[in-house]
Amino acid sequence: MANGWPGSTPGCRRSGSGPEPRREGEAKAASIYDDPGFFAGYSALPRSVAGLEGAPEWPALRTLLPPMPGLRVLDLGCGFGWFCRWARGAGAGQVIGLDLSARMLGRARAMTDDPGIAWLRADLAGLPLAPARFDLAWSSLAFHYVKDLAGLLAAVHRVLRPGGRLVASLEHPVFTAPRRPGWRQADFGGWHWPLDGYGQEGQRAVDWLGARVVKQHRTLGTLLNTLLRAGFVLDHVEDWVPTEAAIAARPELAKERERPIFLLLAAHRPG
Ligand SMILES: C[S@@+](CC[C@H](N)C(=O)[O-])C[C@H]1O[C@@H](n2cnc3c(N)ncnc32)[C@H](O)[C@@H]1O
Repeated sequence: MANGWPGSTPGCRRSGSGPEPRREGEAKAASIYDDPGFFAGYSALPRSVAGLEGAPEWPALRTLLPPMPGLRVLDLGCGFGWFCRWARGAGAGQVIGLDLSARMLGRARAMTDDPGIAWLRADLAGLPLAPARFDLAWSSLAFHYVKDLAGLLAAVHRVLRPGGRLVASLEHPVFTAPRRPGWRQADFGGWHWPLDGYGQEGQRAVDWLGARVVKQHRTLGTLLNTLLRAGFVLDHVEDWVPTEAAIAARPELAKERERPIFLLLAAHRPG
């Protein structure tokens, strides 16, 4: 797996106002990211070691971000908190990194003592945050784990101030659809990614890092319409594939041009 993704190449102390979120340790749902073996495997991925610079989609995502100084930022599914720390370094005023996994949050906390970042253990399925509190909601590769995307996006819309932005990446529907995702040798000599199950939305379970990982497949139409029905105005949609420059720097990414692995979205709550 060149970029470490499943089936890819051969793969807050809190601050501010509003209702108190549940404290760390109170989240009830289990997270695969708390499984010791899975956590060890995930910790070894390039993006886990090198952070944003190890994530090939980061340069594209970065162009979707507003100027950061002074912003109140919510990172949904923050993992090791790379974006939280970057946001503060770029001038964000307050950042909340939210994640369900105690292990992921533990690693995030260990990497900074910045009092401008609060870590919050909570489920994306029920955001425990006050309305109109954030200028920017960011989420990298977490939304495809959530069954009730409509409920999540309604909650994100609610916690953003009018005019607030959402920038998110998620696994692309072409990537999530197949029952047995993976590259196959094509008879023309290259590689292809057999696509089946596209129209059958719902749960997918894939083997990744020695664990059975459950995620949700939705068509592109469903994803975009869910965003629109939540009240967002869509600003940008991108079927991410690596640039020539990225491939020159990391030749193992070349295969990723054959189909999109990630979907990048930018939207805002109308003012
Ligand atoms: C692929 S990792 C991405 C981490 C980080 N955003 C990044 O890009 O480096 C997905 C993260 O989403 C979190 N996550 C998955 N389902 C969640 C849920 N229902 N509520 C909160 N966090 C969740 C996981 O614990 C994990 O940290």
